[in-house]
Amino acid sequence: MTTTALDTALALPSAPGAEWWRSAVIYQIYPRSFADANGDGIGDLPGVTAHLDDLQRLGVDAVWLSPFMTSPQKDAGYDVTDYCDVDPIFGTLADFDDLLAGAHERGIRVIVDLVPNHSSDQHVWFQEALAAAPGSAARARYLFRDGKGEHGELPPNNWDSVFGGPAWTRVTEADGRPGQWYLHLFDASQPDFDWTNTEVRAEFRRVLRFWLDRGVDGFRVDVAHGLMKKAGLPDYVPDIDGGSMGGDASDVPYWGQPEVHDVYREWHRVLAEYDGDRALCAEAWLPSVAQTALWVRPDEMNQAFNFAYLETKWDAAALRAVIDESLTDYAAVGAPSTWVLSNHDVVRHASRLALTADNPQGTGLGPNSPGKPIPEVGLRRARAATAMMLALPGSAYLYQGEELGLPEVIDIPDAARQDPTWFRTNGERYGRDGCRVPIPWVAGAPAYGFNDSGASWLPQPPEWARLARDSQAADAASTLSMYTTLLAERRARDLGEGTLEWIQTPADVLAFRNGSLTVLANLGADPVPAPNGRVIAASGALVDGRVPTDTTVWVETD
Ligand code: GLC
Ligand code: CA
Repeated sequence: MTTTALDTALALPSAPGAEWWRSAVIYQIYPRSFADANGDGIGDLPGVTAHLDDLQRLGVDAVWLSPFMTSPQKDAGYDVTDYCDVDPIFGTLADFDDLLAGAHERGIRVIVDLVPNHSSDQHVWFQEALAAAPGSAARARYLFRDGKGEHGELPPNNWDSVFGGPAWTRVTEADGRPGQWYLHLFDASQPDFDWTNTEVRAEFRRVLRFWLDRGVDGFRVDVAHGLMKKAGLPDYVPDIDGGSMGGDASDVPYWGQPEVHDVYREWHRVLAEYDGDRALCAEAWLPSVAQTALWVRPDEMNQAFNFAYLETKWDAAALRAVIDESLTDYAAVGAPSTWVLSNHDVVRHASRLALTADNPQGTGLGPNSPGKPIPEVGLRRARAATAMMLALPGSAYLYQGEELGLPEVIDIPDAARQDPTWFRTNGERYGRDGCRVPIPWVAGAPAYGFNDSGASWLPQPPEWARLARDSQAADAASTLSMYTTLLAERRARDLGEGTLEWIQTPADVLAFRNGSLTVLANLGADPVPAPNGRVIAASGALVDGRVPTDTTVWVETD
């Protein structure tokens, strides 16, 4: 690894309160679907490196890479066997170093995904646990328990897996007899660690240091609300439909247990050993913004995904309420609010915002889903929603492909689906494949330029030719051009570090000022007058100086 001058510049600590993560726009790369350099149909790290110029042109401050560590890929890499190496399908550690150096040269920070709640069942520790006896130190790293019933034939409690079905699987002991059960809040191939175990704690401090030593700027922490389970693992009577990550439910004995905060205080101290401003971002699905803010108290993590915002419907009053709540509750602990509309686990917002039926997280969309969106309505709302989000103070997360206005892919053939949710619910829930389809770069090319071979691990729909990046780059009215403009203006005006001041408006309209910018979003049916001043960006064309339905406008007022 070589250290460049720019590396050094990025490594300088900012003044307290001005750290980069407080206002950054962070672009999520889902490596298997971003760009495929070797043509095997699965995106890889060299593919990312080859497109860093595109990300710089787009104007993002940082990237978050979903997991690329060694994994049998039962849950697309969220099932890790070696936390300190790169899976061969994605490349090598040298490829990672190249990516990191290339990003830093362009002033782009890099955060990596850390998956501490569970490992793969192929992890050497879990294999040791299976070979060892009940009560052994090897089993104590995970959550093995005896079953209930006369012969231990019933699971230890009634918990369900997030992906459907029971959260427990029974093992066969060395003597060939049915034995203990182990907990997996997700797929059976993802056994949960026991985070009261000191070896587990020490191992993850080592993993953090491994990536920090290589120069990463931080971590997105997977299932950050799940590491600790309530002592005694009591039954839980769910008050929600299965499949939720816990965002709607309170008192779940495996989400949001208070002991988890000690883990993050420990990690905070590890990051503090390093130069620059390294950051921890929590993927924590909790019932309220106020609760999520506990994950970003000054001695814990730095950011948490704002899922309350993501889950808010396209409704002016509801959006205003969640924005206010977020700004207040995060400020109360000295943290920035984050904003996010899409990621690899939810229906893309260009489809979600126009759904006409409920669709709990993880359900996904498929040919038989109720309430399918009208694509034009979805795209219009998505553009308006993004234009509103990027003017908010705080840090914003983007998910690859949303800058192209990609919709959820609904018509994936059953035989091509890969999400464990689809299998564990026998097709009752489609799951998350529809937001994970490899993204289009070049309209006329094989696999739309995802690679040269035309292979793609999920089929790309024919209508994506017109959404390809190259056709959008040349079109000033495209979604890509809109994102590029918004990001440049956001940066030039330091909107991420600004403050929000609401402007009185009729119902169905939201308007606020951030510095000299006035933002107006019309969520109502009728056009409304644009604010006075110079229009510097709009999510859709204004009509006679009026802002039509589902449109956001940015106006310079001073
Ligand atoms: C997180 C990830 C999701 C994964 C799950 C289990 O929610 O974002 O993709 O399936 O954790 O690791
Ligand atoms: Ca590849």
